[in-house]
Amino acid sequence: MVLIFFLRFNGVAGGALQYNFYEESCPQLEDIVSTGLHPIFLSDPTSAPALLRLLFHDCQGCDASILVDTVKANRLSEMTSAKNFGIRKRDLIGNLKTLVEDECPVQVSCADILVLAAREAVASSWGPLIKVPLGRRDSSAAPSYQLADSLLPPATTGVDEMLRIFTGKGMTVEESVAIMGSHTLGSTHCLNILNRLYKPEGVEAQGIVLMDPRFEAFLRLTCPKWSLISNITSVLNDVTPTVFDNHYYMKAMGGRGVLTIDAEMVIDPRTAQIVEHFATNQDDFFHAFSTAFLKLSSSGVLTGDQGVIRRKCNVID
Ligand code: HEM
Ligand SMILES: *[C@@H]1O[C@H](CO)[C@@H](O)[C@H](O)[C@H]1NC(C)=O
Repeated sequence: MVLIFFLRFNGVAGGALQYNFYEESCPQLEDIVSTGLHPIFLSDPTSAPALLRLLFHDCQGCDASILVDTVKANRLSEMTSAKNFGIRKRDLIGNLKTLVEDECPVQVSCADILVLAAREAVASSWGPLIKVPLGRRDSSAAPSYQLADSLLPPATTGVDEMLRIFTGKGMTVEESVAIMGSHTLGSTHCLNILNRLYKPEGVEAQGIVLMDPRFEAFLRLTCPKWSLISNITSVLNDVTPTVFDNHYYMKAMGGRGVLTIDAEMVIDPRTAQIVEHFATNQDDFFHAFSTAFLKLSSSGVLTGDQGVIRRKCNVID
């Protein structure tokens, strides 16, 4: 079953995003993106998760600033932040942009292509097909490594910080829990869970979340303490890492959440019941995820005459 969500979006300062934004200037845009990605999703199933996470990490404004490479030593790219460790497939957006430029030169922002790619990532993984309003503009200022580094959450983030981030983007608590369902896709590098597996003595007693002991043993085996290969080894986020489904919530409830946030959402009184609900009702999860996705991808965007349409996604000219 394919669910289609079409939601009204009320614009932010600078002008509203529109569902028919490229109707005149590039009507074939959505086809170019989905046709371009189709063979990539088939040949490399890890690319869908990478594109979905890329959207989150770009959405401190959704302005494609994460795609810009370091220009000068004093203007380091966002990618140099450790918070962006594991971010992959930025080049795919550049490749899609080249295809789009061939047909609609200097009309379509890299920021919109990135949002459409993330939407395709979810839909192609059997998740909801989310209709997204367009009209974002790309950042024209040199990227700020410092900004990305201060705004993106660390791997140790708990429920408090997670809710602060997403309610700050206008989401309800239910939508915040739903957007975390993104962790139904993909994998996590050992580096990001060493803190959970090898905590200092006594931390457990302070009420830190428990893990299914068999799962913990499995993770310790996969991710040995202080191993030099922690940066390249990873564990799957759930048993169906290429299918966008509600297994993430079921797995977290079984004590097999991989990251701190995955495990904490199950026991925090603000989120526990929502996790339980999504674990049993995938349609409600898909619906809340879709509205959350629209809020994430619309927060603080540049529109109208703000920003620019870049010619190449990795360069500000
Ligand atoms: C407080 C919020 C969040 C935290 C702390 C968090 C943290 C993380 C971490 C540490 C990883 C592992 C990265 C790696 O080791 O390669 C990860 C993976 C991932 N995250 Fe999140 N995340 C959050 C929210 C989100 C959101 C909102 C989305 C999407 C909209 C998202 C999508 C993903 C995806 C798809 C992956 C798998 C990436 C891959 O396989 O390459 N996350 N997240
Ligand atoms: C692993 O990644 C982290 C974060 O980017 C980095 O600080 C560290 O130097 C890396 N370690 C190795 C052994 O490459």
